[in-house]
Amino acid sequence: MKVLGIETSCDETAAAIVDSDHNILANRVLSQLEEHEPYGGVVPEIAARSHMDHLDRLIREALDEAKLGFEDLDGIAATAGPGLIGGVFVGVMTAKAIAAARKLPFLAVNHLEGHALTARLTEGEAAAFPYLLLLVSGGHCQLLAVEDVGCYSRLGGTIDDAVGEAFDKTAKMMGLPYPGGPLMEQIAKSGDATRFDLPRPMKGRPGCDFSFSGLKTAVRKKILELAGADGAVSNLTDQDRSDLAASFQAAVGDVLIDRCAHAMDFFAARYGRPGPLVVAGGVAANLALRSRLTELTDQRQTRLLAPPVKLCTDNGVMIAWAGLERLRLGLTDSLDFAPRPRWPLDQLTGVKDRT
Ligand code: KG4
Ligand code: ZN
Repeated sequence: MKVLGIETSCDETAAAIVDSDHNILANRVLSQLEEHEPYGGVVPEIAARSHMDHLDRLIREALDEAKLGFEDLDGIAATAGPGLIGGVFVGVMTAKAIAAARKLPFLAVNHLEGHALTARLTEGEAAAFPYLLLLVSGGHCQLLAVEDVGCYSRLGGTIDDAVGEAFDKTAKMMGLPYPGGPLMEQIAKSGDATRFDLPRPMKGRPGCDFSFSGLKTAVRKKILELAGADGAVSNLTDQDRSDLAASFQAAVGDVLIDRCAHAMDFFAARYGRPGPLVVAGGVAANLALRSRLTELTDQRQTRLLAPPVKLCTDNGVMIAWAGLERLRLGLTDSLDFAPRPRWPLDQLTGVKDRT
């Protein structure tokens, strides 16, 4: 079975093809970073237009890379939400047009389910259901029990900012360009994580919820102190920035560990084992955080499963794979499926809803 996956929900235009033997036959990703950089964040209108300009070419390139034609495909999958709706429309309309013209099944994939199932493509049997999922991206921060395709049970989530958002906003306050997350990880390597005493919001509280706005505010205060009388961020030294990034990343790590430990207790009570723990979404690309999570899973005698870094940030492979998982269960969608700007994981149609 071979499925084409299209991703256009944010600022990456992507097309990829995977097969049911876990092979990635093509993977094309075009980042719009340069187009959005002058604005310090993603501009939805620019994103949608850019998806329109490039998507057809990327699909053609993906087919060429895989040495396939549309007639060799078994299904067409596209991110149908959640995300910036203009971009989602571009991907969904393109996928529907191909599906209609070629008489192929159409699969409306939830972007978060794409992240959630990627480990099953890359880790195979180790990521058999059920598993615990830490989903950490620019727009989402959740802990979920993944029971099956389309069957998610939410254990907790952020009450304010998502982790990636906190990374990006903190980086912006320090004068770093967008998206700050990867840069923060880089400069934290030469920083002293003990120099700034930052809060660990929610740590030690019952449950699995997160909060990052207090941490962000604490960093802002430190930046203002360092900036001095004129308040200019340019007064910070490179060492100040590195130390702030390292201290921030350490605080985030402590919070994630604490919340995941609680989630493992819940998971163990329900399913008889604490994991495995799958980490997914853009922030899962952070190797420092991954190694903190590995310490936790080692302690609990379970495993951390993390997709390769380039499959953590947005890509078409994850959409193609989630589409393939749905296709082989017969969970196809009709061509009048309407894209959804908001679409929580626990509202998906799954195996258990099949008639
Ligand atoms: O999953 P993703 O590509 O897009 C969303 O669906 O949101 O995640 C992007 C987010 C951004 O906030 C970015 O700063 C963050 O993931 N991110 C990182 C790293 N790489 C990407 N955050 C921390 N460390 C990284 N290495
Ligand atoms: Zn994402």
